[in-house]
Order: sequence, then C-alpha cells, then structure tokens
Amino acid sequence: MRVLLTGVTGYIGSHAAVEVLAAGHDVVGIDDLSASIIDTRHAIERTAGRKIEFHELDLRDAKGVECILAHADVDAILHFAGRKFVGESVADPIRYYSRNVTASVNLLAAAERHGINNIVFSSSCTVYGDAAELPVTEHSPISPVSPYGKTKAVVEGLLEDLCHAQEATRALALRYFNPIGAHPSGLIGEIPWGTPNNLVPYVMQVASGQRAVLSVFGDDYDTPDGTCIRDYVHVVDIAKAHVLALDAVGRNQFGNRDGFGALNLGTGQGHSVLEVLDACRAATRRPIPHHVVARRPGDAAVIYADPSRAANELGWRAQHDLVTMCADHWNFTRNNAERQASAS
Ligand SMILES: NC(=O)c1ccc[n+]([C@@H]2O[C@H](COP(=O)([O-])OP(=O)(O)OC[C@H]3O[C@@H](n4cnc5c(N)ncnc54)[C@H](O)[C@@H]3O)[C@@H](O)[C@H]2O)c1
Repeated sequence: MRVLLTGVTGYIGSHAAVEVLAAGHDVVGIDDLSASIIDTRHAIERTAGRKIEFHELDLRDAKGVECILAHADVDAILHFAGRKFVGESVADPIRYYSRNVTASVNLLAAAERHGINNIVFSSSCTVYGDAAELPVTEHSPISPVSPYGKTKAVVEGLLEDLCHAQEATRALALRYFNPIGAHPSGLIGEIPWGTPNNLVPYVMQVASGQRAVLSVFGDDYDTPDGTCIRDYVHVVDIAKAHVLALDAVGRNQFGNRDGFGALNLGTGQGHSVLEVLDACRAATRRPIPHHVVARRPGDAAVIYADPSRAANELGWRAQHDLVTMCADHWNFTRNNAERQASAS
C-alpha cells in the first residue's frame, strides 16, 4: 500500500512511519513543522532504511491538500496531525478547532473526492472526560470536558457520519491513553516544544539538568499514594497498532455495520505519578527532585483503559513495561540534546 501520514514528523507519526515502512508499505508524509522539525524526516529514513515522500503543508490550506491528494495515489490515510494539549486548548479554543477540526474536514473532503476510503484517526482517551467507571471501555460515555477532547469527539463523529453516508468508507478511531517512550534505536522520540505539558517529557528534562525540579500536581487524590493514575503505553506499541489498523480497515474487519469503529490503546494498567517518577529514577540513575504543589484544575484522579477490544479486533496488545518505556524515553532524550534545543 501507499499510505499518507499527516503529522508524520511528530512524536507518534514518526514512530508509525517507521512501522509502516517496516511492514513493506510506502509512506507519503505531510507536516507543517509547526510542532516538529524536518530533521525527524531524516531520522525516520535512517531508522527504517528507506526513503519517504514528504510535503511541508498546513492541512488548513484546502487547495494544497487537494493538490497533494490528487497526485499522491494513496490507498489509506493515517491522520495524526493536530494539537494535543488540554490546557492550551482551554486558553485558545479557536486554535484547536482550526488545527484539529478544520484541518480534518479539508483532509477528509479531499479524500472523498479522490476515493481514498480507508482512514485511521488519532483520537484520545480525553473523549471520555471524567470517566465514571473504570476501566474505560469503548462503550463508556463520550463526554469530553476540554476543547481538545471535544475536537477529537467532533472528528470521530464526522468519520462515523461519513462511513454511514458512503458505503466504501471505513474509519477507525484509535483512542490513545498516555503514550511515552521512544524507538529503541534512540533516533526518533518526543521532542517537546517549549515547556513540556506531559509528565514524562518534563521528568526527563529534570533528569538531564534542563529543569531544576518536578512539580507534582496534588498528592491528596483518592489513590493509594495520593497522586493521579494514568495508563502509560509505549509509543512503539501504539505505532504497531496502526499497521494492524491499516489491515483491519482494508478488510473492513471491525466496527459497526457502517464501517466505523473506535478502539482503546492502553495497557489496561494504571501507574501513579510517584510510580512513574520512581521508574524514571531507576531508568536514568538520576535523583530527579520533586515537590508537591496544588492540584491542576481538570485533572481526573484515575483513568486507565480496558484494551480488550483492540486485542480481539486487531490482535494488538501492549508489550512494553513501565521501566522499559522510561529507559527508552531517556535514551532518546540523552542522545538528542541538540535536536531538543532546536525545538525550544
Ligand atoms: N502524544 C499524546 O499524548 C497523545 C495522546 C492522545 C492522542 N494524541 C493525538 O495523536 C496525534 C499525534 O500526537 P503527537 O504526540 O505525535 O503530537 P505532535 O505534536 O508530536 O505531532 C503532531 C504533528 O502534527 C503537525 N501539525 C499540527 N497541525 C498541523 C496542520 N494543520 N497541518 C499539518 N501538520 C500539522 C505538527 O507539526 C506535528 O509534527 C495528535 O492528533 C494528538 O492529538 C496524542
């Protein structure tokens, strides 16, 4: 297959590109480099030992998208491009609806015009909001609380409607829990843009001496050690799920009658902030100082996935444990200080 990856130079897109190439498919990548660097394209090619076709383009440029899709001759789309931070989306909802919804509408409209019927979309566990029951299954209510989560739910809804309207269209929304880690080669990984919003990238910057101390947002939650619990999953496991998802949409072997489906991608196991910190201390062999500050508004105490549907429908299971995730994340951070500096 020839597969279009939007957001190809981003954290998850770059890992997925390596796995898609390893599976023998060709990659056509799009990214506007608003939150990634072009060097990652070369890192993908070095890691996979193969070239990709790359277009620097903002998906909000409808004519540009039309032009690429008219000539790219692709069989399927993996749509990663977008912004991903809850706090930023609360402060600037227009930016989120523009980058996550407008861009997706442009992409899907052009895909429809050119008969590209197989779509895999990067969704998020944020669509569940403050989940009332754990673990979260795909039948849990969709009730996002942030503009970011709402944009993901809107695009999922659009995909479901498209599948209903057109018999040939099949779409799978993959709801990632908390991807961390990096490719074991140390060549690709997460390059935080400015101050990291997520726990592990921040911890890694404390470990490497770029930041002095980690602020833990609250230790008075109703959890065993009082800190929030999340379902961390290795980015390579997430990337591999996309190769399986491509096969599944190709065979229409999932989802509802209309050809739309959604799957949780997590390990099914929650880890607290303090557990992650301990795993990072073990992986980095650095002390990583922390202090406890007030809770951050909007943080749920606990969320973790029931990943059994992805196991049943894709044959996918997360393979990596927390210490390996932290060790791989550290390996990339330590080896790429220069690339990280160029992004901040
Ligand atoms: N990383 C996570 O924790 C996480 C969790 C759940 C869901 N997701 C979703 O997965 C997807 C990929 O996440 P990521 O961690 O790789 O993020 P990322 O920021 O590393 O990558 C996103 C990429 O999209 C590009 N991009 C953004 N807007 C664009 C536009 N209008 N046109 C073209 N390119 C554009 C950016 O330059 C960047 O390279 C996102 O949609 C995100 O919402 C991520």
